[in-house]
Amino acid sequence: METHHGGQWNKAFLPLLLLLSVFSTVGSSSSAIRFRLAPLARGAAERQVPMQAGAPFKIALFADLHFGEDAWTDWGPRQDLNSIRVMSTVLHNENPDFVIYLGDVITANNIMIANASLYWDQATAPARNRGIPWASVFGNHDDAAFEWPLKWFSAPGIPPIHCPQNTTSYSGEEECSFKGTGRLNLMTNEIKHNGSFSSYGPRNLWPSVSNYVLQVSSPNDPQTPVAFLYFLDSGGGSYPEVISSGQVEWFRQKAEEVNPDSRVPEIIFWHIPSTAYKVVAPKFGIPKPCVGSINKETVAAQEVETGMMDLLVNRTSVKAIFVGHNHGLDWCCPYEKLWLCYARHTGYGGYGDWPRGARILEITQTPFSLQSWIRMEDGNVHSEVVLS
Ligand SMILES: *[C@@H]1O[C@H](CO)[C@@H](O)[C@H](O)[C@H]1NC(C)=O
Ligand SMILES: *[C@@H]1O[C@H](CO)[C@@H](O)[C@H](O)[C@H]1NC(C)=O
Ligand SMILES: *[C@@H]1O[C@H](CO)[C@@H](O)[C@H](O)[C@H]1NC(C)=O
Ligand SMILES: *[C@@H]1O[C@H](CO)[C@@H](O)[C@H](O)[C@H]1NC(C)=O
Repeated sequence: METHHGGQWNKAFLPLLLLLSVFSTVGSSSSAIRFRLAPLARGAAERQVPMQAGAPFKIALFADLHFGEDAWTDWGPRQDLNSIRVMSTVLHNENPDFVIYLGDVITANNIMIANASLYWDQATAPARNRGIPWASVFGNHDDAAFEWPLKWFSAPGIPPIHCPQNTTSYSGEEECSFKGTGRLNLMTNEIKHNGSFSSYGPRNLWPSVSNYVLQVSSPNDPQTPVAFLYFLDSGGGSYPEVISSGQVEWFRQKAEEVNPDSRVPEIIFWHIPSTAYKVVAPKFGIPKPCVGSINKETVAAQEVETGMMDLLVNRTSVKAIFVGHNHGLDWCCPYEKLWLCYARHTGYGGYGDWPRGARILEITQTPFSLQSWIRMEDGNVHSEVVLS
């Protein structure tokens, strides 16, 4: 099933001035006021994100933003501004401690400049400019190669200008590229920002890149974990849509190392749902025990299951998995002893016109709890659910 088309090819071409105006709107300004980030603690392998004393830890999930879609039209850059507005509204209303960019941050198959990090940086600007730390995982569109629109080869011919001629970061012909920007380059550019908690992951797992763990730490003691957040690259784009057995083994060893007795709750993030999502997907509506508001398409799952779900189900500490990818689904359903959750389509890029929003997670320490709800662009809140 193809739910991830390349965008609105039929929109009119437009000079790149609009692009440039987007760059200057969102590309500038950066302050680091709220980056209250602990450096690596002695002996601790995982990066730590400290909780604030006396407050729950709140995370906003921004899923499927699809920046750079139809970058050569007036429609595309306008959607990016709309997506900025959604994120700004959610951040204003929720004031989260942390943001997770849950893949398909950009629509690389629509981007023909050599360095797609320009668009990536636009997408992370709302968190960055507020000093909110963030982490990201890759989706299937983030490092895809440019897909030539068929209509460019029809009667009117190939448009004379395909590539931005004057961007802030490039000049000359090398700025034009149809190869896509690889995961490693995107990651290199993201983690230059102090607010980014993302990581390349172990080299032996490449080309699967965004595999890493963060420790949410007690406000009283940075050594004391309150929860572990695991990020996995579910593939797609430049390689198949899969979590490999290599990643499964990495997870097994990593979990054994950081949380050997499964004492600390664990929360999992990746982009493409595993096939287990098909098992729990509601047929009609969203009957309990599932909780959500839209159930408008079928689950577009990873190509194969290589053992990740068995492993997660066996760990009593794993509370929930969060994915994006299906823009028309926003439910959480129980599966064995854990929850399988969708985020909520946040971006104006990507298919579907369902109203935009963001799933919010809230973690408390004593007693531990994990709750979630969806915050819409118009301010409404719905689909509250207790996940632990
Ligand atoms: C690509 O763009 C990013 C962000 O704009 C920048 O930090 C990086 O240096 C660029 N890479 C190259 C090779 O110019
Ligand atoms: C783009 O850059 C070239 C060379 O720097 C300059 O001559 C030209 O006027 C610029 N075009 C625009 C639209 O800014
Ligand atoms: C990032 O942190 C380093 C060291 O604290 C500092 O020198 C640098 O200016 C910071 N960069 C930004 C963009 O805040
Ligand atoms: C899960 O637990 C069962 C029962 O303890 C065990 O037989 C099985 O091998 C475990 N599976 C994995 C993937 O660890």
